[in-house]
Amino acid sequence: MKKTPRRPRTPLFEVRHSPIHGYGVFAARRIRKGAVVIEYLGDRVSHAQADERYKDKDPNDNHTFLFTVDARTVIDAGVDGNEARYINHACDPNCESTTVNKRVFIQAIRTIQPGEELSYDYQIQRDSDDAPNIDEIYACRCGAEDCRGTMLVGAKKTRKLVHRAPIRAAGAHGAARQRAPRRSGIAQRPQRRSR
Ligand SMILES: C[S@@+](CC[C@H](N)C(=O)[O-])C[C@H]1O[C@@H](n2cnc3c(N)ncnc32)[C@H](O)[C@@H]1O
Ligand SMILES: [Zn+2]
Repeated sequence: MKKTPRRPRTPLFEVRHSPIHGYGVFAARRIRKGAVVIEYLGDRVSHAQADERYKDKDPNDNHTFLFTVDARTVIDAGVDGNEARYINHACDPNCESTTVNKRVFIQAIRTIQPGEELSYDYQIQRDSDDAPNIDEIYACRCGAEDCRGTMLVGAKKTRKLVHRAPIRAAGAHGAARQRAPRRSGIAQRPQRRSR
């Protein structure tokens, strides 16, 4: 018996201009809590290579497609990256990043309705040698009611008290500034817990 032809499914998301910053990624259909939306892809390089690649970048420019996987590896989505690189930061996000076997996935932490912008908390780490205006540089424009005003996490560090980490404490986005992998495991299984 002939099968009825299936209607092609609408893509899960689309990339378009965002009120938060530049381009963003928006749900094109309902995304269930726990769904893996996309893998964060790009050129996998060492921290040294990433630093070398962007050494001439203006320190006041916060824009980056770098994502720290661990102490050895950074994903540079500016080279061979996919749409994941357009997902913006938000302080009350609907997604999170998860690292599994050194691969990074963006996963929904609640049900997302069509048209909603996808976001996750970059949790960019502070460094002891941060410029005094670091919070201005990394100002957050997510617009959430409880926006913390910055894409950075944690209390301000003072040079006197904090030793500089051998590798710049991987903040999610930035040669040395991308977020440290929070945890590993499970990304491809349906959601276990939300934050
Ligand atoms: C991975 S890119 C996200 C895509 C970006 N909107 C674009 O068009 O290229 C990360 C950069 O987007 C900007 N960005 C993302 N979320 C932001 C936010 N909540 N507030 C301000 N800038 C943000 C910052 O420049 C950040 O380094
Ligand atoms: Zn915010």
